[in-house]
Amino acid sequence: PLPRPFQVPLTVPSVLRPVHSDGTSDLYEITQQVAQLQILPGLTTPAWTYGGTFPGPTLVARAGRRTTVRHRNELPGATVVHLHGGHTPADSDGYPTDLVLPLRGGAGSAPAATACMPAMPAMPCHGTTARSTPGGREYTYPNDQRAATLWYHDHRMGFTGPAVWRGLAGFHLIHDDEEEALRLPRGDRDIPLMITDRSFAEDGSFQYPSSDPALRVPGVTDAYMDGVLGDVVLVNGAPWPVLHTERARYRLRLLNASNARPYRLELHPQPPGGGGLVQIGGDGGLLERPVRHDAVELAPAERLDVVVDFSSYRPGTRVQLVNRFATDTTAMVMRFDISSAQVAPTDDSAVPERLAPVERLDPAKAVATRTFALRQSRSSGWTINGLPYLPGRALARPRLGTVETWRFVTDFHHPVHLHLNHFQVLSRNGRAPGPYDGGWKDTVDLRPAEAVELAVRFTDHRGAFMMHCHNLEHEDMAMMGDFVTE
Ligand code: C2O
Ligand code: CU
Repeated sequence: PLPRPFQVPLTVPSVLRPVHSDGTSDLYEITQQVAQLQILPGLTTPAWTYGGTFPGPTLVARAGRRTTVRHRNELPGATVVHLHGGHTPADSDGYPTDLVLPLRGGAGSAPAATACMPAMPAMPCHGTTARSTPGGREYTYPNDQRAATLWYHDHRMGFTGPAVWRGLAGFHLIHDDEEEALRLPRGDRDIPLMITDRSFAEDGSFQYPSSDPALRVPGVTDAYMDGVLGDVVLVNGAPWPVLHTERARYRLRLLNASNARPYRLELHPQPPGGGGLVQIGGDGGLLERPVRHDAVELAPAERLDVVVDFSSYRPGTRVQLVNRFATDTTAMVMRFDISSAQVAPTDDSAVPERLAPVERLDPAKAVATRTFALRQSRSSGWTINGLPYLPGRALARPRLGTVETWRFVTDFHHPVHLHLNHFQVLSRNGRAPGPYDGGWKDTVDLRPAEAVELAVRFTDHRGAFMMHCHNLEHEDMAMMGDFVTE
């Protein structure tokens, strides 16, 4: 039986404290471990967690100040950590075969994780470049980038879907002076919301349709080839939670961390006059100017920062966040219960008409135009340009310091993600970008038969990085490719 909606409070993941700090950097420690979570009333859910919670602890960083995270793997299987949206050197970017092997043995532990498993044609053995470290390793993030809502999650080749589904995801927020100079809502009124759908078995455990439950072979059962969907929506790990708000402006950092489900989010009821979701940022930080929306769309891995002014509602109003893409139980997301106090609290926040300059990448300066076709192939599964993922095979070799135009074309619904650099959407099907394509992006949602063109400038870090579909089941079933910056 499903839990009743709007019974539990929203919680905000705790901010991790560094174990050491100096003039230029902060060191953190995270133990990846199995934890017994209370998600459904009266049941426990065994989860794979960063530090014992789902979402994992939030890392808060300052632009230009280095974050080092010492991860220790006490889980039963190998893992890889990727900072999504991070401008990260290749060796810390979470290349899908740079495995962190489990500290202790157990099902799916070290030997099985590194063995060659050519069970799918998409996962050939030859050419694999596994650089595994036993027990744990450090990842270093320069945070040399704009203020933004990033997130970290597992990225192990072939097994990202089940790992994230079981709980391996957390926020990584970057602040900078430019953003802090604005009077955007902050403190208790700046709330990250990680939205995920999940299914549960009778005993409360997460239900994920792996074709091999022991996770030796990647992939899901036939019915889930298009991606795994759940019937319960969790926000910050709680089913359909409630947030008690004051009559004030709140910044909501929306993240769709679902494996495969897109959302169209709307406030219900809308505030008088509509336009209640005021978008101030996207994947790569602040927009140039705020954009008022009645609804916002978020494909897997996309982020959207919105400001909602709860003082525009009558005291005591209960406002649901709903998902217009669904008509079943996943049409509900969470609820905001606005304080019934007649006198609104002090709120000196504001949404200025100018947020932050966004440099335009000039497609006329592009030194190359490349096309990538995302397709399902009869013989190889989900592919890019007809090729299933093969570690070490570069689909592109862009030069550092140059701008390129990348065109993605699709057969099906695919949220496309690039590592290393944020990009700008130039066009959709030859027309202007969509309403949610503004600013710097790292994930762009392609609908069936769409062509999206984007401009990207490759900077700073040499090495192999990923491009892939962020439908995690498509990713695991080989819709991924390397690009190598030189
Ligand atoms: Cu969010 Cu390559 O990942
Ligand atoms: Cu896809």
